[in-house]
Amino acid sequence: MGISDFMRNAAVQKFGQDVLMRMDAETAHRATINALKFGLVPAGNPTPANLATSFCGLDLPNPVGMAPGFDKNAEVFGPLAKAGFGFVEVGTLTPRAQKGNPTPRVFRIPEAMGVINRLGFNNEGHEFAFERLKGRKPGQTVGINIGANKDSEDFVADYVVGVTRFSPLADYLTANISSPNTPGLRSLQAEDALRRLLAALVETRAAQPRQTPILLKIAPDLGEAEMDAIARTILESGIDGLIVSNTTLSRDAVAGLENADEIGGLSGKPLFNLATRRLAQMRLRLGPDFPLVGVGGIHSAQSAIAKFEAGANVIQLYSALVYGGLDMIEEIKSGLSQTVSERGLAGVSALSGAAVTDWAEGRITL
Ligand code: FNR
Repeated sequence: MGISDFMRNAAVQKFGQDVLMRMDAETAHRATINALKFGLVPAGNPTPANLATSFCGLDLPNPVGMAPGFDKNAEVFGPLAKAGFGFVEVGTLTPRAQKGNPTPRVFRIPEAMGVINRLGFNNEGHEFAFERLKGRKPGQTVGINIGANKDSEDFVADYVVGVTRFSPLADYLTANISSPNTPGLRSLQAEDALRRLLAALVETRAAQPRQTPILLKIAPDLGEAEMDAIARTILESGIDGLIVSNTTLSRDAVAGLENADEIGGLSGKPLFNLATRRLAQMRLRLGPDFPLVGVGGIHSAQSAIAKFEAGANVIQLYSALVYGGLDMIEEIKSGLSQTVSERGLAGVSALSGAAVTDWAEGRITL
């Protein structure tokens, strides 16, 4: 059997997943990045035609994206696309390299399929990622997620540098103002600060030769009035889309479990209901046509479908791969494709928004 058949073998994949689960979370992540780099991951199955979609003017083979934080330094966006993702968001990248917080700083909560991280934007900085992204092949859709250095004296200026540097290369840019692990970053979500930030980003982009779409990524830890203010500010700003959501500070869904009290942001299955409700609440505020990325807790085909029904146009995931491996991509794609066919829909985009009000009002949970 050739290497590719070997890697596709279910027993081999199960063994690989078991080995990764025995490593500490950050070592397992590095091992997975290396496996992807060396081509030790099987190519995904051909994508069903009814999953093709467009988002912010980009044509995607399917609407399932790799969430940022996995490929922080833009090392494996090519292999991730080959493994079956419809698009890959790299980063978060800060202008200068930084180490992040002391280790250990990533923790699994296996009973709940959750993850807590307090990495703190560890990354190699703009320069290295820029060099790698220059060699990108056509057909790979890559979003670049930008942030601010922890010791920066002017957070807004760091995002502006990100737009200037990456707008020639990115299919879209994401301003990530919702990591809980950089002190003060989330305060950019407050109305006046957000208005100033978005105005600076849009103005900077206007001076670039290429008008790359700009998305904003928010936290799920927001009340009604904060969501109202964010929606108002976004609609006035001229940015192109919103990503809901980043990790949560809440521990309600994991109370009492091992590692639940670690400091950081919680992701994975225990984030699903909160992030999906926030997504639906933002969909109601932004109207039916505003581009929305649904992320947070997707862990099955059923939960992926629910994310669309709550208002997402495309989705992203990360933590489920920690527990399910890259097989999760195929499981989600085939479940989505089958549902589109069974419901007699023209394409995956028609799934979007079927249950927004129910999700927004908390009448549905998974
Ligand atoms: C993240 N996430 C993240 N988000 C972001 O915008 N920039 C980043 O650098 C990171 N880093 C990061 C590291 C780790 C270890 C995790 C688990 C997550 C958040 C991520 O993109 C996503 O928004 C949440 O994890 C929710 O999705 P999942 O993981 O529940 O599918």
